[in-house]
This record gives sequence, C-alpha cells and structure tokens, in this order.
Amino acid sequence: MGGEFYKVWGSILIALTVALAIGIGINEVTHSEHLDENAYKVDVPEGGAPTAAVAEKKVIEPITPLLASADLAAGEKAFKRCATCHTFEKDGPNKVGPNLYNVVGNQVGTISGFAYSDALKAMGGQWGFDELNAFLTKPKEMVPGTKMTFAGIKKPQDRANLIAFLRQHADSPLAIPGQ
Ligand code: HEC
Repeated sequence: MGGEFYKVWGSILIALTVALAIGIGINEVTHSEHLDENAYKVDVPEGGAPTAAVAEKKVIEPITPLLASADLAAGEKAFKRCATCHTFEKDGPNKVGPNLYNVVGNQVGTISGFAYSDALKAMGGQWGFDELNAFLTKPKEMVPGTKMTFAGIKKPQDRANLIAFLRQHADSPLAIPGQ
C-alpha cells in the first residue's frame, strides 16, 4: 500500500515537473510572441505618423480671431518677405507679382497689366480673409500651378499681422468679421 502511494505521488511529481517544463516553454514562446507583438505595435503609430502629419498640415488655423489684435508694425516687417515681388502702395507697380493695394476683399487675379497663371485665373472669387489665410499658408497647396514661388508662412499670428497690414492699404478696408 505504502509502495503504491509513493508510486502514485512519483508519477504526479513527474507529471507536474513535465507540466512545469512545458509551462516554462510555453511561457517563453508566448513571451517572445508578446515581444513581437509589441515591436509591431510600436510600428503602427510610426507608419501612421506621416499621414497624421499630412492631415495636420492641411488644417489651416483660422486667423479671423487674431485679426482684431494683430500687430500692424509686425505685419509691415513681415511684408519684407513679399516685397521682392510685390508693392503694396496705391498705384504701386507690378513686379514679379501684382501690386497688392486693395487686395484684401478684391477679386482674384484682376490687377491690370499683370499676366496671371491659368491656375490663379481659374480660382476666381475674392481674396477674403480666409482665402488669403489659406493662400499665404502654402500658396502651391491652395492654388496648385500658381506662379507665386513662395513657401508660405507657418505661424497663424504672422499671417494675421501681415493680412491686417495689407487690409489697411486699401481705399476702404474690408470689415473684420465680428467687429
Ligand atoms: C518670388 C516672388 C513672390 C513672393 C516672394 C511673393 N509673391 Fe505673391 N505673387 C507672386 C506672383 C508671381 C503672383 C501671381 C501668381 C499667379 O498668377 O499664379 C502672386 C500673387 C499674389 C496674390 C494674388 C493677387 C491677385 O491679384 O490675385 C497675393 C494676394 C499675393 N501674391 C500675396 C503675397 C504676399 C502677402 C507675399 C508675402 C508673404 C507674397 N505674395 C510673396 C510672386 C510672389
């Protein structure tokens, strides 16, 4: 009877040891699977990142809330980036780009004596605050095919300052929405 007892315990112990060994083996396998999974999961946001970045770029921050408190002196300074190609004074000449007096609220592509690209002529409409905001953020993205070779102005506040400055150089400055 005693012998039987130890035999039974012996096989249980063996079974347990084997189970334990298998268990460790399984654990190791699953563990490395976990690692693989983690490595993969880290890859996902990385793969997703460029799309997120592109999406981010396409969202253009509105500037109308910034216009009322815009810094006109900073806007005039910012215009230096445009001055190689544009004048802003009344009756100023066209240069590489058209004269920008009256541009805020004006019809798109209508300055006489300036040869606009087909892309800009096709755009139509008016240069309202939102249109200028989008155009100056990235001209080539808003009007693909424009011949305005200018990368764009990243900071919403910089665009607001500049547009507020241009707005003042008009016979009757366009009303700021909500003012
Ligand atoms: C390298 C030259 C260059 C620079 C710098 C430049 N522009 Fe232009 N801009 C042009 C040209 C060329 C056009 C005409 C685009 C076309 O016909 O596609 C134009 C067109 C425009 C128009 C449309 C005008 C209209 O009559 O419809 C606006 C508004 C404008 N530019 C604003 C600006 C502002 C503001 C800046 C500075 C932040 C600037 N541009 C910088 C060359 C330039």
